[in-house]
Amino acid sequence: MSGGGGASGKAHGVEADFLVIGSGVAGLRAAIELSRHGLVLMLTKGNPLESSSSYAQGGVAVALSEEDDVTIHLTDTLDAGRGLCRQQAVQVLVEEGPDRIQELITWGAKFDKVGGKFAFAKEAAHSRSRILRARGDATGNEMVKVLMAQARRHKRIKWLDHHFTMDLVVADGVCSGALVLDEVTGMRKVLAASAVILATGGAGQVYARTTNPPNATGDGMAMAYRAGAVLEDMEFVQFHPTALYLPSSPPFLLSEAIRGEGGRLRNIKGELFMRRYHPAGELAPRDIVARAIWSEMAATRARHVYLDATHLSASFLKRRFPTIYSTCLRYDIDITEEWTPVSPSAHYMMGGVWTETDGATSLPGLFAAGEVACSGVHGANRLASNSLLEGLVFGARSGLAAVTFAKRTGTPPPLPSTRELDGGPLCRLEDAEKLRSSLRRIMWGKVGLMRSSDSLASATAQLSRWNRTVDRPFGTRRDLEVKNMVQVAKCVAEAALWRENSVGAHFRADYPDTKRLGWREHSRLERTDLIKGSKWTGAEAG
Ligand code: FAD
Ligand code: SIN
Repeated sequence: MSGGGGASGKAHGVEADFLVIGSGVAGLRAAIELSRHGLVLMLTKGNPLESSSSYAQGGVAVALSEEDDVTIHLTDTLDAGRGLCRQQAVQVLVEEGPDRIQELITWGAKFDKVGGKFAFAKEAAHSRSRILRARGDATGNEMVKVLMAQARRHKRIKWLDHHFTMDLVVADGVCSGALVLDEVTGMRKVLAASAVILATGGAGQVYARTTNPPNATGDGMAMAYRAGAVLEDMEFVQFHPTALYLPSSPPFLLSEAIRGEGGRLRNIKGELFMRRYHPAGELAPRDIVARAIWSEMAATRARHVYLDATHLSASFLKRRFPTIYSTCLRYDIDITEEWTPVSPSAHYMMGGVWTETDGATSLPGLFAAGEVACSGVHGANRLASNSLLEGLVFGARSGLAAVTFAKRTGTPPPLPSTRELDGGPLCRLEDAEKLRSSLRRIMWGKVGLMRSSDSLASATAQLSRWNRTVDRPFGTRRDLEVKNMVQVAKCVAEAALWRENSVGAHFRADYPDTKRLGWREHSRLERTDLIKGSKWTGAEAG
């Protein structure tokens, strides 16, 4: 590759062969791959350690234990996805996953062991114990630490922290860079590159209750959509069953691994209820557990149920879940002695920017990996602990595919200047905080765990009105995040209205059956013109 001059032309502040947007597991793994072939610019909004990856608790699923096999991991993942996974993508995930984990171990990752052997835990809907963990419940932190250290050794990766990507730049139909805001100086720059990897994570913040960190505002999905890339399966939002429910606390996650170790769910009357909903009880698939909790909350007119781990030994709980134990204590809950109030929370976006199995999106020059992408591995319902693995596998793959693309296409065309890209004077979004909060409440109330045509029609109407008010160029990170949240929320609501059946994480009270005509189609959204408007089409599951 050019080793530093991937682009030329009339407007670019910094030049690189590759831009990677986002420094979670997927972005870090992609950057490591790319740095073997050219100069990489690693862009992150805010602090590079602030990502969903860093907070991942339960672990990473991988078929490495003696009782396991990639074909069993494949079957479990396909079953969880309820007929809407793309089998080829799942095959890639489970087959390449073991190598990606072994590689991480050689780079220094320390996964927990028992008696000298890796400790494999069980989580919902896994038929084998296959979840590797680190420091009990700090798996994501360990993985990010190791990947970050590995990436920092590569001199060809340049770090641009506190750089918010505002939009992708498309020239001659090819994604050739990004428009970026330096959060410290307030300066905007156009960064040119031969290929761009989007690894911006999820969009949990569009919901009033979410386990996701505050920066999960769906920026990557919104900017890819604006640039003309196809979004897929946006209706499939995973709600984690057990997030802390206290008036004084954010919905902090209580890992599924607690139930994997024997934790039980009780309604506010103290009754165990999961067996009434599924033979696997507490280890039923995540969507079933979340809806069962919802039903119990409705039946008992309560805002939460309880997660009970008090029958497990206190020393075991403290050792196995040190982060969860200490965080709950900060909110005056001792999980070793008392039942913990929990309720479901938005957790993961199965949908996102449609990609091939090599990470290529429908927009040439743009690749996507991790939660921002819809690679086809999750279908209608993600199998727990598959997403850290997805970030590693598809991060590496998208890096390789971007190299091949850049070699084939050569130097990108000149890019427009920031002024030309703005399309008008920059605006301020009035009452941005109010809009953000109203949006989150509407999404929670009308596009949440239970949906209906009435709730979705009313949400999409309101979101369309808001979308018109945000369809302008803004100059601050906060305003741009709200704009992105409105656009992503609208896509989720529209997709949920389009899908007239209930499957996996998507439950329509007015269409409770799964196998209605066309149920195996995927929802796809693309911008039909460059100003506004969208088109929904269906595509058969592959
Ligand atoms: P992220 O890790 O979210 O990283 C996104 C990056 O993009 C961040 O660096 C962010 O700053 C950056 N970014 C976003 N927008 C912009 C922008 N506009 N400009 C510049 N940078 C931007 N999965 C598992 O497999 N196992 C688990 O145990 C597990 N536990 C979880 C626990 C919690 C609390 C949460 C929230 C999720 C958990 N998940 C788990 C899911 C998993 O962590 C995520 O799906 C995965 O880590 C996403 O990785 P990613 O690299 O795609 O994105
Ligand atoms: C958890 O630890 O429960 C989260 C696991 C996941 O989301 O994959």
